[in-house]
Amino acid sequence: MFNKKTIKDVPLDGKTVLVRADYNVPLEKNGEIADEYRLTQSLPTLRYLLDRNCTVVICSHLGRPDGKKDEKYSLEKVAARLGELLARPVRFVSDTIGDQVYQATKHARPGEVLLLENLRFYAAEEQNDPVFAKQLAKDSSASYFVQDGFGVVHRAHASTSAITEFLPSVAGLLLEKECKTLQAAIHSPQKPLVAVLGGAKISDKISVILRLIEVADHVIIGGAMANTFLRYRGYRIGKSIAEDDLDDTIDKIYQTAAKKVGEDAIDDFIMLPIDVAVATTIDQSARRAVVAADEVAEDEYILDIGQASIEHMAGAIRQAKTVIWSGTLGYAELPAFAHASARVALELASNPHITSIIGGGDTVNFVLDWDANGGSSFTHVSTGGSASLELMAGQKLPGIEALLDA
Ligand code: 3PG
Repeated sequence: MFNKKTIKDVPLDGKTVLVRADYNVPLEKNGEIADEYRLTQSLPTLRYLLDRNCTVVICSHLGRPDGKKDEKYSLEKVAARLGELLARPVRFVSDTIGDQVYQATKHARPGEVLLLENLRFYAAEEQNDPVFAKQLAKDSSASYFVQDGFGVVHRAHASTSAITEFLPSVAGLLLEKECKTLQAAIHSPQKPLVAVLGGAKISDKISVILRLIEVADHVIIGGAMANTFLRYRGYRIGKSIAEDDLDDTIDKIYQTAAKKVGEDAIDDFIMLPIDVAVATTIDQSARRAVVAADEVAEDEYILDIGQASIEHMAGAIRQAKTVIWSGTLGYAELPAFAHASARVALELASNPHITSIIGGGDTVNFVLDWDANGGSSFTHVSTGGSASLELMAGQKLPGIEALLDA
């Protein structure tokens, strides 16, 4: 299924290699790295290249600085932390292209690691500008380009697409692992397969929802997404967050589901909450009250699924051999409304016979925060947000398509 060349297929011993990583890490208010999962997941590729005596020049983006230099989004702090994780110095180069970069890479020795400044300090990066890509290829002094920034391969940018016109381009080990794992979960999962879908928006996930309806045995819906479904089914949802103008989309979801399992089995297949946790404010003072799904008052927000729904969902999860989870099931930033998400995490972590695949930015942040084992309680915690959803939906991702075929 993964038909691209990887770093294991090309003779890069002793060569200078330009690696595209996704070091778009969450930052604390004081600018410190809030979570280093994307750094740790990039280490196997870097170690593989260093074991082959390569000079490793890394490029990445951080945040959305809109094509302008903005110190808040400098990768300097990432270089320092990466050096600690790799247990060797990572030299930070305070530009992305230009003479400073060329001088640094030309004089670098095998075994040295350099991290270039944020690609998105240049507007040309997001414009997929070939002139910028060509200069990046030249100034990095690289003989090969390695795409390992899985989280960004759904973007056609200079460092994911145009760059491949100027250097022979292959996949890194993280990209290969993400693609193989996510595609296997969709194409050849151990059954039963349960999909757990949450988060705020159906519109962001429509293709993956339709794909999961095709392959899953149960689809559990929670999060603000469930509010939109509940309203479509005729329930009053008070002041809850929901998306408008999606009736046609939900019609299509139900039609696809009905074709697969029949009208009678539909509520067992698409599992909506039967009770919900509500509050009249959304802040630390909000108190969790559980009501039936058809008893939400005008002044209430639905902020989580209720206890009966949690038990129902946990039962379906325990029967599964594979679970794909994308999107938190409630307002998980507030502990009082993180019950359902925490329960899914607990069921998956305490049933290691279930292959658990977790993708989508908010869910990944939630489980990494929840898991004392840094994510290793689950089979696969994806480093990609939208990239993982688009891949599972069967879409072609430009940053993968552009690599050399195997
Ligand atoms: C991500 O965090 O999803 C990736 O790094 C892509 O970032 P972007 O949405 O700003 O392109």
